Amino acid sequence: MIGGQEICIPILPIFLHHGPNFSVARRMPPNIVRIAAVSDVHYSKTSQGSLQPLFTQITESADILVLPGDLTDYGLAEEARVLARDLTSSVKIPIVAVLGNHDYESDEVTEVREILTGAGVHLLDGDAVEVLGVGFAGVKGFAGGFGRGALGPWGEPTIKLFVQEAIQEALKLESALARLTTRHRIAVLHYAPIPETVEGEPVEIFPWLGSSRLEEPLRRFEVSAVFHGHAHKGAPEGKTSTGIPVYNVSISVLKHAYPDKPNFRLFEVDLSSEPEMDVDGTAERRQQGRRATDRVDARA
Ligand SMILES: [Fe+2]
Ligand SMILES: [Fe+2]
Repeated sequence: MIGGQEICIPILPIFLHHGPNFSVARRMPPNIVRIAAVSDVHYSKTSQGSLQPLFTQITESADILVLPGDLTDYGLAEEARVLARDLTSSVKIPIVAVLGNHDYESDEVTEVREILTGAGVHLLDGDAVEVLGVGFAGVKGFAGGFGRGALGPWGEPTIKLFVQEAIQEALKLESALARLTTRHRIAVLHYAPIPETVEGEPVEIFPWLGSSRLEEPLRRFEVSAVFHGHAHKGAPEGKTSTGIPVYNVSISVLKHAYPDKPNFRLFEVDLSSEPEMDVDGTAERRQQGRRATDRVDARA
């Protein structure tokens, strides 16, 4: 809905069936920004060129690429260089990313960060950036579990330190969201903020896949959508308790859930839309759990 009127955006057949020979970009109304998201690419020293076809396809299909972490396999600077080469040669649209736990593995995170930033990636870590009129807030996030099962800061100092890390990441997300003045806000995380999108993983490891502490800032700042990865065997879609759509865009999840589709999720933001307000001025969320003015394409 825009201004109370339903709009119908024509969807060309090619939009639904991008084949390997896809070469015609879909024409979009100027107010629509298309965000492509794929996570957990886990680039290794031998990955050169492996995702170039996908990156090229994303460039032709979207306006912004989002990469929610585990960009490298072992957090090596050499791996980041391989990825940076593929990104710079294949992606011709802005890139917004966060790091994942794998990117920290080899204690080369400073160099990894410099390499990717040098390649033009907006690498967020408690930061916010506005791209094409859409606001992005990003953090890695952390583990700790969900709901009543979330680990609390009680007992041994090590437990308190662990929980403090999750709280700190949530605070970073909150301050990043607070800096955005855009009408539409997108949160980019590596860890999951809700349990729904980790379902499919062994239940024993749920607490290591995300933290409910990340959910509160999402609610407070009424984000339009959340992208995360990390749970390679999780579920592709979920919602926060207030209906904000959450997408697990781990490439393995997308491959499994949408085997016949390209390995990225496309989310469209309508810049001309106004958040729908209640009489008290608070934003209202429609029953489908997202702003009716944000279009989500179910393909991956
Ligand atoms: Fe991963
Ligand atoms: Fe991960």
